[in-house]
Amino acid sequence: MWRTHLFATLNFLLILRKGAAFNPCDDGNHFLLPNAGWRGTACKRTRDTSICDRYVETGANKWYKVLGHDDKSPRKMAEEIAEMFHCGTDYPLYLPNGSHPTLDGTIVTRNACMRVGADKCKEQYAVQILKCGTFFLYNLSRPNSCDIAYCFGENETCSKPDPCEEKNRLTLLVSGDRSTSCKDQSLKLCDSVLRSSWYRPMKNSIDVKMASSCVERYSCGTEEPIWLKGAEPTLADKTVDMKACVTVAKSGACSCDMEIDIQVRNCSSYLVYNLSSTPSCPQRYCFGQKGQCHENVYDSNSMWKEPSKIVLISLAMVIVLALLVILGFMIHKNIFRPVVKVNVQPSIKEKDNRDANLDDIIKPK
Ligand SMILES: *[C@@H]1O[C@H](CO)[C@@H](O)[C@H](O)[C@H]1NC(C)=O
Ligand SMILES: *[C@@H]1O[C@H](CO)[C@@H](O)[C@H](O)[C@H]1NC(C)=O
Ligand SMILES: *[C@@H]1O[C@H](CO)[C@@H](O)[C@H](O)[C@H]1NC(C)=O
Ligand SMILES: *[C@@H]1O[C@H](CO)[C@@H](O)[C@H](O)[C@H]1NC(C)=O
Ligand SMILES: *[C@@H]1O[C@H](CO)[C@@H](O)[C@H](O)[C@H]1NC(C)=O
Repeated sequence: MWRTHLFATLNFLLILRKGAAFNPCDDGNHFLLPNAGWRGTACKRTRDTSICDRYVETGANKWYKVLGHDDKSPRKMAEEIAEMFHCGTDYPLYLPNGSHPTLDGTIVTRNACMRVGADKCKEQYAVQILKCGTFFLYNLSRPNSCDIAYCFGENETCSKPDPCEEKNRLTLLVSGDRSTSCKDQSLKLCDSVLRSSWYRPMKNSIDVKMASSCVERYSCGTEEPIWLKGAEPTLADKTVDMKACVTVAKSGACSCDMEIDIQVRNCSSYLVYNLSSTPSCPQRYCFGQKGQCHENVYDSNSMWKEPSKIVLISLAMVIVLALLVILGFMIHKNIFRPVVKVNVQPSIKEKDNRDANLDDIIKPK
């Protein structure tokens, strides 16, 4: 074993010397392995999606880096614990225990095992591993069929749905009274009924952010305002666990007296927030800086939100009223009578006939 190890290391050094410019560890010199968020050993494959690594890139200097989907942390190929139908595939590939090199810049060659039922190593596939400081790169072999895939992330569950996709979040309609500039001691609005979810906060269709510096008591339409503690995430940060502060201080001073767990994600042009209901009242999340306490009263009810809708509804009501007036007028003027007359006429004729018949009967007299 040490012989192959040494050979691989020398080989790597040789590569480094020959093409001093090319270092697989540098950004741009390796690929990102797709579907990384579903390769965890605690991620069961679903009925309709299963990963297959039949078409991974192979050959000289074809290295893969594996990054989690929800966070930016690098993932290691699983060692020893993969079960069938996990790692987002049917037949998972994993490494023997202790396969990863510990020395920086070292390349090792290992055989990954395919798990099929009780058979822990039905097939083997050669994998090269290179340690690049805090992460590893992998030179993979193509499995013989589908669905067979490499496992990354021991005990990692499947990725959560991406909150930057519209279907995975709600819109938080932000009214003026949520802003840090709304300071009205009579307002005691509360987020204790807020549904726990990812939210994209918007005010009149424009993205707004949670207040990110200390907010004093009696702001944001409530007594105890809530604001974001710490720096907003960048795009590369993915989903970040953060704290939101509640200003409780009766002194009027601005302080972080209580912390609430939230998550924040940068979706490039806007931020989304995973919020849950506040632990007590009156506490409320602050969004936006400019806004008056009494604007956008109907903001939380989208039906009445747009003025164009109010105009349409009023117009419809006027038309219905006009129709009722016309109908009333028609009934009053007996405009429907001719129809009734047509129905009555035959009976009059009948009566005439009967009279005629009667005459006939009487005539012979
Ligand atoms: C990666 O593996 C392939 C075989 O699939 C091999 O030919 C190639 O030399 C390896 N690449 C490096 C950089 O070691
Ligand atoms: C893997 O090796 C470590 C020690 O290096 C040991 O503690 C652990 O139990 C091993 N795991 C398995 C599944 O063999
Ligand atoms: C994964 O879970 C197993 C069993 O619960 C445990 O023995 C192992 O240490 C865990 N591995 C990691 C990397 O957390
Ligand atoms: C998201 O992060 C990028 C940097 O990665 C930054 O330029 C941008 O302003 C951030 N977006 C928001 C809405 O803060
Ligand atoms: C939102 O964050 C809470 C913790 O703050 C977490 O328990 C929950 O799973 C997250 N929700 C989603 C949809 O990610």
